[in-house]
Amino acid sequence: MPFVQIKKQYLAFAMLLFVALFLFNSRPAFQCQYTTEMPVSYLPTIYGITPTYARLAQKADLTRLSQTLMLVKNFHWIVIEDSETKTPLVANLLKESTLKYTHLNAKTHKSKQSTEMDVNICVFKLDSYFTRWYCASGVEQRNEALNWLRNHLSSATDKRGVVYFMDDDNTYSLKVFDEMRKIKNKVGVWPVGIVGGMRVEMPLVTDGKVSGYNAVWKPFRPFPIDMAGFAINATLFLDHPEAKFSRKVQSGFQESEILKYFATKDDLEPLAENCTKVYVWHTRTQKPSILDPKKLKHPPLPDGHIEV
Ligand SMILES: *[C@@H]1O[C@H](CO)[C@@H](O)[C@H](O)[C@H]1NC(C)=O
Ligand SMILES: *[C@@H]1O[C@H](CO)[C@@H](O)[C@H](O)[C@H]1NC(C)=O
Repeated sequence: MPFVQIKKQYLAFAMLLFVALFLFNSRPAFQCQYTTEMPVSYLPTIYGITPTYARLAQKADLTRLSQTLMLVKNFHWIVIEDSETKTPLVANLLKESTLKYTHLNAKTHKSKQSTEMDVNICVFKLDSYFTRWYCASGVEQRNEALNWLRNHLSSATDKRGVVYFMDDDNTYSLKVFDEMRKIKNKVGVWPVGIVGGMRVEMPLVTDGKVSGYNAVWKPFRPFPIDMAGFAINATLFLDHPEAKFSRKVQSGFQESEILKYFATKDDLEPLAENCTKVYVWHTRTQKPSILDPKKLKHPPLPDGHIEV
């Protein structure tokens, strides 16, 4: 049956041709994918450092922030409680998130003598935040996070990354994280919405360089920028082991205190389209007012067993 044999030969040839075509076609395609994907897919890790303290709106604020952060790729959240021990509320919230995180605690030192400095720190956050007699400025908490970061990076193979100090009640667009990954050298800066008595507080940019600032609140600060308005190359914290926040500076000077170790105005890299876009807002959660059950004619059912 020569006809069938020819057919088989055709079939074998066709299969060979198909396999050959598949190999030649796909090999360069795969190679292309690998070579182009490597640099594109490298995203520097962002280390977000967030001090937090117990209060009625804490879980609400942390829920909102953590669920934003879950949308950020290659993000490591360092949460530091102002407390003697880590609380179950924060521990569970972190555990239930899908985030890569580190949970720390550092209690704010109670200063016995109320100095002018301390009062200044208090005034800065007093209205909506701190009802206790001492005032937290996040100094001990951020420094604890920096200690952890230095330990972590010194043993890490990839020492690259970006450090961002984040309040637990600010509002962050996902775009601000894209911007800070563009830091090439030392420190990236961008505008912050609704802060310092202004619609927007921002570095002024001339020819792609920071030439000044528009701040009206304490404009004499070396860096009149809010904590939410900059991020620092993480590697620099290894190069400057002495860099930390200080309790000795007056309110509004913490940003300048940490930035002075790393940069001068000339080093600042203006991001967010030469500081013309707002991708973060210094929002603050209003202190909730809860009725005192003892003063009510018909007291509500006890709800102390419910975590709020
Ligand atoms: C960060 O700083 C280190 C050390 O100075 C430097 O090698 C690196 O290029 C800088 N930039 C980034 C994005 O890591
Ligand atoms: C920022 O400004 C510089 C100088 O005017 C310009 O070359 C650059 O393209 C601008 N960058 C962006 C992202 O707009």
